[in-house]
Amino acid sequence: MTARLGDAPHVLVTGAAGAIGGATARALRRLRPRARLTLADLDGTGAERLGRELGGEVAVEACDLGTAAAARALHARAAARFGPLDGLVSSAGLMQVGALERMPWDAAEHLLLVDLVAPLALLHAAAGAMAARGAGFVVNVSSMAGRVPLKGCAFYGAAKAGLAMASEIAHAELAGRGVHVVTVYPGPVRSALEAGARAEYRPGLLTRHVPTGDAPTLARHIVEAVERGRARVVYPAVYALGYRALGLASRVALRLGPEPRA
Ligand SMILES: NC(=O)c1ccc[n+]([C@@H]2O[C@H](COP(=O)([O-])OP(=O)(O)OC[C@H]3O[C@@H](n4cnc5c(N)ncnc54)[C@H](OP(=O)(O)O)[C@@H]3O)[C@@H](O)[C@H]2O)c1
Repeated sequence: MTARLGDAPHVLVTGAAGAIGGATARALRRLRPRARLTLADLDGTGAERLGRELGGEVAVEACDLGTAAAARALHARAAARFGPLDGLVSSAGLMQVGALERMPWDAAEHLLLVDLVAPLALLHAAAGAMAARGAGFVVNVSSMAGRVPLKGCAFYGAAKAGLAMASEIAHAELAGRGVHVVTVYPGPVRSALEAGARAEYRPGLLTRHVPTGDAPTLARHIVEAVERGRARVVYPAVYALGYRALGLASRVALRLGPEPRA
């Protein structure tokens, strides 16, 4: 985080009740004990629990980020309560695995709204205000599944690829205006989302032995990227190979990657 953010930045974290959002909120609190945190999640009870754990100036928003309007309304409520955002961490998300044509359209559309439209609406709302003030940061949690094609992830991959592309472009556009945008490309990281997705694949060598990280370590990398002005985080580190050698990684993922059950 740059010094220009001051001692008590206002940071909105979505998916705060989840593994990666929660760990990032904890890492932010450790770095800036006086930060004002707005913790948003569908799981309001989990977000409340985290709020009590973190203490200090915390507001909890139990909300469903299933529409752009909900995302914009969340941004407006947060800004009205603690003032304009100094930081935004978009980590709320869901993952559903299944063959493209078998996924019910309603489920596919909901995934696209939560994983792509809502974070874009938040980025749009926050970036404008941050650029006008010449300071701020945004962290968008995408996925390696938005970089490398995985069977069963047509909609999830589409959402995460779209978010990553917008995030990378925003990084370039906003860098000269005091706003730092970080794109995060996690491979598997232990969480409820990850366990659910793993169960949707047929067990095999890859599902059993795929390198898997933990949320607190990823959160440390995220906060470091914010502080040091890095454009992206790829974690666990082994996936940096796949990030760079995209052609090869795509062929390997499609040929040897896991097969969805349905
Ligand atoms: N863990 C991985 O392996 C991995 C890999 C790549 C990318 N990611 C991305 O990392 C982010 C965080 O995932 P995680 O691993 O920390 O999973 P997680 O522990 O399941 O956290 C995700 C959180 O988002 C919340 N959420 C889901 N739908 C929502 C909605 N409509 N409105 C508001 N909040 C909603 C969930 O609430 P509920 O629990 O109530 O549904 C949950 O608290 C996601 O965007 C995910 O796609 C994760």
